[in-house]
Amino acid sequence: MRIFIAIELPDELKRALGSLRLDMPGIRRVPVGQLHLTLAFLGEVEEAALECLIRALANIRAPAFTLCFSGTGCFPDRRRPRVLWAGLEPHPDLKRLADSVRSAVNYCGIPLEERPFSPHITVARLKLPSGPEFDSFLEQHKKLKLPPFSVREFILFQSCLAPQGALHTPLRSFSLMQ
Ligand code: 2AM
Repeated sequence: MRIFIAIELPDELKRALGSLRLDMPGIRRVPVGQLHLTLAFLGEVEEAALECLIRALANIRAPAFTLCFSGTGCFPDRRRPRVLWAGLEPHPDLKRLADSVRSAVNYCGIPLEERPFSPHITVARLKLPSGPEFDSFLEQHKKLKLPPFSVREFILFQSCLAPQGALHTPLRSFSLMQ
């Protein structure tokens, strides 16, 4: 099963991100219903490791917290952007939660990518080299501000690759302490 762990966004924030105007060639939006903040991407996981992971994630004791958006940006860099993201202000509880999730993944012997945790919400993917429209979009939205949102749970998702794009299905949710 192809697995990742993420934080869901409130519907009104998904709608706000979905209403950003992206009139550029070769750009593909993430479907609004699928916008999320990835804590860890695991890839293919065996059934036994998944059972271990669910137990380990359920053992995480971490507080609920509030996140604020801050601007937009792109990966890997502005000269050849592949991913357009909405950024989040750093929050120590978010970092600690991501660390705890990654420890749970390690504990179950599931390999993780080495990439350091860099909190972002992927809004769109770019298939073509970007043009001036993309630069002006980043310029216009570099101070993007949206209402803060509270994070009360994190979710284990299955991702099924399909011709029309990945389909994300929540498998379990894990509550944070209120
Ligand atoms: P991101 O685009 O926000 O970084 C589910 O596939 C999520 O896991 C993706 O939305 C992506 O989040 C993240 N992810 C990280 N590494 C990945 C990889 N190698 N392949 C697919 N998704 C990955």
